[in-house]
Amino acid sequence: MDKEFFTLDQIPTDPRDALAWVHSRYAQVFGWISDPDKLFLVKFLPEVASEFEYPIHIVEIGTFNGGSTRGLIALTGGYLTGIDDFSAFEGDGRRHLRGQWNSGQEQFWDTLRAHVDLSSHVKRLISDRSQNVGQTWNEPIELLLIDGSHEYEDVTSDIHLFCPYVIHQGYILIDDWNMDTVRTAADETLDNNTWERIRVPDLSTTAKLFCAKKR
Ligand SMILES: C[S@@+](CC[C@H](N)C(=O)[O-])C[C@H]1O[C@@H](n2cnc3c(N)ncnc32)[C@H](O)[C@@H]1O
Repeated sequence: MDKEFFTLDQIPTDPRDALAWVHSRYAQVFGWISDPDKLFLVKFLPEVASEFEYPIHIVEIGTFNGGSTRGLIALTGGYLTGIDDFSAFEGDGRRHLRGQWNSGQEQFWDTLRAHVDLSSHVKRLISDRSQNVGQTWNEPIELLLIDGSHEYEDVTSDIHLFCPYVIHQGYILIDDWNMDTVRTAADETLDNNTWERIRVPDLSTTAKLFCAKKR
């Protein structure tokens, strides 16, 4: 493992202590991920990394400004392909962000380089709709996070295009399970013969992150 990362036995066993430790070391991690989901990820991600003998390949659909990307890299030591059309930084999205950033890509790299520089673990950042990128995708994936467009058709398409490349015993994470569009798309496309549901968020809490393992 590179010096930027740690091994599973170094991280405190209590998830809250582990999260505080990760924040103190890496500062911004996890972006818009909710608190219960952070507590899940802080245990889950190092465990996933330890299941493979090599640095894992992560694909993150919907990197936004790189906050969640930092968490995925810091807690696994893996190499990540980011995909974002940066539409959140245009039109209505830009108004929502109050013009805070000039360009999504610039902000992404600034976030990755801040504090402990994790940018060398970004294999590449693809600025396009994931539904386009998926048309020619052919690389194996150990961990896939779907958090781009939340439209039903787009989530369905992301699952159809990228999930075949998740390796045996690999994982998929889907954020925003509280949205009907996301949940319905995933329920219809992830069959139980192929996918073991590891975590279905309790929607009476703020947990929103679904996780399944490929059988
Ligand atoms: C909810 S945000 C991602 C949040 C990020 N994962 C985090 O936790 O900080 C969704 C992102 O998906 C991007 N996006 C929206 N539609 C997309 C599409 N069709 N393909 C790729 N990215 C898309 C937006 O630009 C935005 O940055």
